[in-house]
Amino acid sequence: MTLALASRRATDALSEERPEPVRDFASDLLAALGTTPRSIAPKYFYDRDGSKLFDQICDLPEYYPTRTELQILKDRAGEIAAHMGPNAELVEFGAGSLTKVRLLLDAMQSPKRYIPIDISGEHLESAASVLKADYPLLQVKPVVADYTQAFMLPAALPDSGQRVGFFPGSTIGNFTPPEAVQFLRMAATVLHGGALLVGADLVKDPTVLHAAYSDAQGVTAAFNLNLLARANRELGADFDLAQFAHSAFYNAPLKRIEMHLMSRVRQVVHVCGWRFTFEEGETLHTENSHKFTVDGLRALAIQAGFTPGPVWTDAQQLFSVHWLNAPK
Ligand code: AVI
Repeated sequence: MTLALASRRATDALSEERPEPVRDFASDLLAALGTTPRSIAPKYFYDRDGSKLFDQICDLPEYYPTRTELQILKDRAGEIAAHMGPNAELVEFGAGSLTKVRLLLDAMQSPKRYIPIDISGEHLESAASVLKADYPLLQVKPVVADYTQAFMLPAALPDSGQRVGFFPGSTIGNFTPPEAVQFLRMAATVLHGGALLVGADLVKDPTVLHAAYSDAQGVTAAFNLNLLARANRELGADFDLAQFAHSAFYNAPLKRIEMHLMSRVRQVVHVCGWRFTFEEGETLHTENSHKFTVDGLRALAIQAGFTPGPVWTDAQQLFSVHWLNAPK
């Protein structure tokens, strides 16, 4: 039986009693396991446990991106706010970084509205209610949508200033370069005549990268392995987590950290009634985290129609924050 059929059957079998995200996970995991080499989208890391583990990663001593970007935003908030101008609307792609948004809102001149876009309505509601309480004059308008697909934003308020997108955390690095351009094109369309503020991790000494993605406490390993734990929880799969190892390495020609789950032995696993063999050393590729040069990121933005503006970096050139002007 072909895998496409297998995925469809598994999806059908789950369709009555399981919510859509679980069915997507089932069909994407089955498709990944049935293809060589095996590879699945990193979005499946972020169930409740995975999101908690990611928060822990952000606080790790080895994981420099979060604190470095925060420091850049703290140091440059005034300058960034000056670019935004008065009464601006801030549109955040993903609603995961209230600390970062606050730095911008605190520096902005009478921010008009905050529009977080996230696929998880639950996450959006909690982000929105926290901000509403702390910024009583700010309008908060959450939009539940998958920002990698086409979606609509509310029309600009009558007396609002510039519409500025915010895409922090180097999440852009988890896209392939063509996906990054596709995302930027979509952002250029919805920000029409405004601007995008995007955080991008920089190319650096691979030793620093290896430490950041294979931390001493094993939190990143737990984050990676949670994908299999999630499959066991949600799909009744029988992955033995002790028989898989976290593997993260820098692929220099492609300027990216690759994360994989590597089978320690030859083994058989079952997912949704399907049987898959892993050879010893065979991997499931779980994430790419691309690193950029300043010019490389600007080139992607230009391809998508933006005109690059200022770039802010830290003294060690670990991380960059780009102001990109969207076409009219
Ligand atoms: C969310 N994203 C930008 C993180 C990154 O660095 O690519 C996810 C992550 N993976 C392992 N550690 C952190």
